[in-house]
Amino acid sequence: MGKKISILVVDDEDSVRDSLTNWFLEDGFQVECAENAKKALQLLEHTQYDIILADIKMPGMDGLEMLKRIKALKTDAIVIMMTAFATVNTAVIALKDGAFDYITKPFDPDDLSHLIRNASKQISLAKENETLKTKVIALESVEDLIGNSQAMKHVLDQVESVAQSNASVIITGESGTGKELVARAIHANSSRKYYPLVSVHCGALTESLLESELFGHEKGAFTGAIYNRKGRFEMADSGTIFLDEIATITPKMQVELLRVLETKTFVRVGGNKEISSDFRVICATNRDLKTLVKQGIFREDLYYRLNVVNINVPPLRERVEDIPLLVDYFIGKYCTKMNKPIVTMDDAAIKRLEAYSFPGNIRELENMIERAIVIGTEKRIMLKDLPFGKEMIDSSVESLEDFERTFILQILNKYNWNITQTAKALKVDRVTLYNKIKKYDLKPD
Ligand SMILES: Nc1ncnc2c1ncn2[C@@H]1O[C@H](COP(=O)(O)OP(=O)(O)OP(=O)(O)O)[C@@H](O)[C@H]1O
Ligand SMILES: [Mg+2]
Repeated sequence: MGKKISILVVDDEDSVRDSLTNWFLEDGFQVECAENAKKALQLLEHTQYDIILADIKMPGMDGLEMLKRIKALKTDAIVIMMTAFATVNTAVIALKDGAFDYITKPFDPDDLSHLIRNASKQISLAKENETLKTKVIALESVEDLIGNSQAMKHVLDQVESVAQSNASVIITGESGTGKELVARAIHANSSRKYYPLVSVHCGALTESLLESELFGHEKGAFTGAIYNRKGRFEMADSGTIFLDEIATITPKMQVELLRVLETKTFVRVGGNKEISSDFRVICATNRDLKTLVKQGIFREDLYYRLNVVNINVPPLRERVEDIPLLVDYFIGKYCTKMNKPIVTMDDAAIKRLEAYSFPGNIRELENMIERAIVIGTEKRIMLKDLPFGKEMIDSSVESLEDFERTFILQILNKYNWNITQTAKALKVDRVTLYNKIKKYDLKPD
């Protein structure tokens, strides 16, 4: 629940102040009153209100002058003027001076409640923007995690709430959805941010290579080990270790990893000294670990140790509304990188992207845009600059057929399914028409 919306009523008439106070209190607002402009301005020195409802005609300083002074205070308050019907002209001046709206006296309760509702909506929008802004600022230290969809906001919320803890996190999601970026965002928003984020791509290494990569090795531990070498767990001391493609590690490595997570100590390959390290672990996988546990491929105890928090990054096709934002972002990124003037994308091209399933997710979109900027010669990225060639022709044939089907059916109905007349109207022979009826499975309704 958000905080109650607060309203300041400024009017010299007791009856107006009393009735508005009762009315607003009943509706769950917080209300205060001032009987003149001077008093109101005094209150505003130390109190913030969401809405100020002010009479225009008051003895002493009038409402218009007060409005100017309120605006000079640079408060976020929304000001609504109250005016007698005869002075609507003055109210219009108030709008130019920054009033949100005005209402005429005597009040129509419906009008007033409508107006307050609008103002409240405006306030919550402004507040939402504020929190979004702080979120963006908070995440600025990492490469931008772009996205305004509910799904992406949920991911950002999870990143924020988990960042400060030491909990192990598993990031799941299809390939190219941004799992590594999320891992970096968690690290960059944690108190470990001034220490290293060490990434290990588990899938790319054999068991013995991974072992020495993670734990390090002593000189002479194996052929080619000519120096002592620190492992990734050691390098991640006070920082974060990111284990990518965790599902690929062998049963032996699963046991070793579990031990390290439990004791935070390990021994270098070929060494005998216990080394301890304070790291936080974040893993990523595009497999369903739970299923792998059921199949006996992934250890259950390790799964539970790693999966304290699970952040699932949804595929791009489930957050289509992020596509235009991402397109702009990648256009900016690549035009800048290639020293080209910033281009825009044609609507038809955007529409096509929004209809596409993106099996490679954001990485695929990013590659498409990079390519389009390399090959594009115009100021706009057009549909033809995107790699949809054949598919596009297929779908336009489809829509042509759709069109033909609808059109023939329309004419058939117009002539009550009289084949001779319909064929004549369509300027085709009867056999052709019969064939089309069969092809499209047309029936009288
Ligand atoms: N929300 C986002 N905003 C901007 N760029 C993004 C976003 N998500 C992903 N990217 C970009 O898309 C590319 C792929 O992201 P990333 O490597 O994090 O995906 P991944 O899920 O780890 O993929 P994989 O499973 O293949 O390892 C990167 O270049 C990344 O910068
Ligand atoms: Mg990755």
